[in-house]
Amino acid sequence: MPKSAQQLTIRAPAKLNLTLEVLGRRPDGYHELHTIFQAVTLYDVLEVLPAADIELVVDGEAPHGEDNLILRAARALARYAPAHGARLLLHKLIPSGAGLGGGSSDAAAALVLLNRQWETGLSRSELAQLAQSLGADVPFFLWSGVALGTGRGDDIRPLELYTDAGGSHLGPPIHFVLSTPPFHLPDKTAQIFQRVREENYSNGSVTRALVGRLAAGEELRQEDLHNALLGPACAAFEPLAEYLETLQDLSGHSWTLSGAGPTCFTLAATQDDASRIASQVSALPGRRFVCHAAPPLASAHPELLPLPSPA
Ligand code: C5P
Repeated sequence: MPKSAQQLTIRAPAKLNLTLEVLGRRPDGYHELHTIFQAVTLYDVLEVLPAADIELVVDGEAPHGEDNLILRAARALARYAPAHGARLLLHKLIPSGAGLGGGSSDAAAALVLLNRQWETGLSRSELAQLAQSLGADVPFFLWSGVALGTGRGDDIRPLELYTDAGGSHLGPPIHFVLSTPPFHLPDKTAQIFQRVREENYSNGSVTRALVGRLAAGEELRQEDLHNALLGPACAAFEPLAEYLETLQDLSGHSWTLSGAGPTCFTLAATQDDASRIASQVSALPGRRFVCHAAPPLASAHPELLPLPSPA
């Protein structure tokens, strides 16, 4: 075990997709995407302690065994580490299988923590390759903040938005209200992508236009939000269309879907507005979260970065 092995902690944020466009089907069976990922201040917490073997302890609702992506991430990285034991403790708050990328965020957090703990010395682009092999949403969380995802959604370009002249993260003056209904579907993401048809395709222009507007300092508006998986998800999760309609009726706001769902979200101008909207919809089944934009990993955890540059 490296001499520097110690107890390290990282916060693993949830994500929303501000846009998610499907451009078409790829020869590898995946779909070509243009999506804007936005990390938000709803967090799992992952701790690592020195240990002889790789172990995971879960506090909360998440897979406990080898199905947990954290263990797959640890085993993938261990191939590059001379000494590789770790006791990983996951405090799970982000609902699983909800379109919030919680499992992917935990896996990326494990890669970053263990790369430090084991002194593996992989660069961010080398970690991104491992992350891609774990799932299409995992690479984003190596940057976090706000980023454009293309390819399978795993080709990440961080968007330098919401920062001041010194590079400090300010966050957009926007709050998010999330409502996660208790709908579950085995193999959800694959099931929903299977229902995507040509009529759901677009050419990426919605995403490019929003990137341009945000880069010009314009505000994010509800009408900017777009998700091509909304129709397919409503077909797959039968009560979802009705759930969205009820959210709208109760709050007077329109709501959209994050990723493959079933989490729905809307924008609010202030924290007070967000709390009011959350209480207006509180009678609906499921869980509510009020959050705002989360900073990039580099500002949230400077002690774990910079990652080494590629050799
Ligand atoms: O990469 P991940 O395991 O999250 O993807 C789950 C499934 O979602 C894939 O097996 C694929 O069927 C579908 N998918 C897709 N196109 C993407 C991402 C995921 O078709 N860009």
